[in-house]
Amino acid sequence: MATSAAAALSFPTPRALPSPLQPRRRRRAEPPACTHSERGVTFDPGSAFYRSDSAAGRDLAVLAATLHRRAADTPAPFLCLDAMCGCGVRALRYLAQVGADFVWANDASEALRPVIVGNLSRFERAPDRRWAVSHLDATRLLSERYLRREYFDVIDVDSFGGDAAYIRAALLALRIGGLLYLTSTDWRSARGYGSRSSLSSYGAYIRPVPYPNEVGLRMLIGGAAREAAILGFHITPLFSYYAYHGPIFRVMVQLHNGKQDGISNYGFICHCKSCGQSRTFGFHELGQITCDCADKIVGTRVSVVDPDSITVVGPLWTGPLHDTTFLTKMLSLATEWGWANTIENGISLEKLLDTMIEESDSRLPPGYIRLDEIASRAKVNSPPLGTLINSLRKEGYAACRSHIGANAIKTNCPIECCLEVAQEIRNLR
Ligand SMILES: C[S@@+](CC[C@H](N)C(=O)[O-])C[C@H]1O[C@@H](n2cnc3c(N)ncnc32)[C@H](O)[C@@H]1O
Ligand SMILES: [Zn+2]
Repeated sequence: MATSAAAALSFPTPRALPSPLQPRRRRRAEPPACTHSERGVTFDPGSAFYRSDSAAGRDLAVLAATLHRRAADTPAPFLCLDAMCGCGVRALRYLAQVGADFVWANDASEALRPVIVGNLSRFERAPDRRWAVSHLDATRLLSERYLRREYFDVIDVDSFGGDAAYIRAALLALRIGGLLYLTSTDWRSARGYGSRSSLSSYGAYIRPVPYPNEVGLRMLIGGAAREAAILGFHITPLFSYYAYHGPIFRVMVQLHNGKQDGISNYGFICHCKSCGQSRTFGFHELGQITCDCADKIVGTRVSVVDPDSITVVGPLWTGPLHDTTFLTKMLSLATEWGWANTIENGISLEKLLDTMIEESDSRLPPGYIRLDEIASRAKVNSPPLGTLINSLRKEGYAACRSHIGANAIKTNCPIECCLEVAQEIRNLR
């Protein structure tokens, strides 16, 4: 399979690298000392940018890619592309743990070649080499693969900042049905301090709201959804992961053929500072954006609440952050592999995936509410998180923790009712 994968693609082998990347004759890179290990795969980060804190994001990618490989109903070789590979740890894990037939590891920095080659060499050597290394700008590499009609099953782009230039090229170089693992570390845009850059990168105008890190994920998915629509495709998020360190926003989306309607899950989120309620609005409701608390204040919709109290962000992804069925399979696989209940870098995959599964309840609207906000609006001490969730569920609402905010809940319960429930818990009603 590996040989046929190599034959099917114009991977740059040391003998066939495109000019001007033809390497000068050099001694074989000595495998660097193994100083790190992730789930049993050893490697050396060398001088590359590497964070052990990001291992959970790599675990999630490996689980998703494995499920995708197992589900693939085709004899075609399973191909992965790690477009900004650093030391190559992801490429290595796609080979060793996902069982990819071929992995392409790319990093713009040629200085990283010895460390990437050293790490991948340890896994397998010629003649059955199942990997290739290149040093191109990611967008150029992805565009070249597309022009050669070479499509990948999984493309992982572990970029810095809010770079979104690669998204269209990555979608073009992906097989229909394939998985694209997107990244943003642009927390300034997510928090509403970089509206111009979020507008240019993702087409979304973001202002500060109390759930910025979920907005960061939705901005990224929305940007990809828009790019997919331009190409006549649509995407669905399999999972969305916010990691506090960094911070890093990561989303695994699946590419599907056809445009869909393009707007059912793409629109605006409105947050009212007066009452704390959030709501989504579609494009057809632009111009009618207000908050129900206006009626309660003046008894009429004519005089709306102070316009400064309403914050509108978007357009962005307003649909589900995750796919429940897929996440459930990821959790089963993590359990099967003994990854679920270990704690690595302070993260339990079981807990993380359980929370994400709860968050994927389609009844839950975008956003989360922090307990301290509930407490301050209800004028009570913070209710215990678990008690509040259970009470809201007893009232018939969907409610759960958020994997993004440790002290926050997601619920479809209107804020007013949520405050009453908090007061009841504190026996104030
Ligand atoms: C966040 S680090 C990658 C870390 C690595 N993926 C990991 O999991 O440990 C980003 C890498 O992208 C590379 N890079 C930055 N801009 C790039 C570009 N336009 N094309 C390709 N690589 C790029 C950098 O040299 C850096 O090694
Ligand atoms: Zn309001």
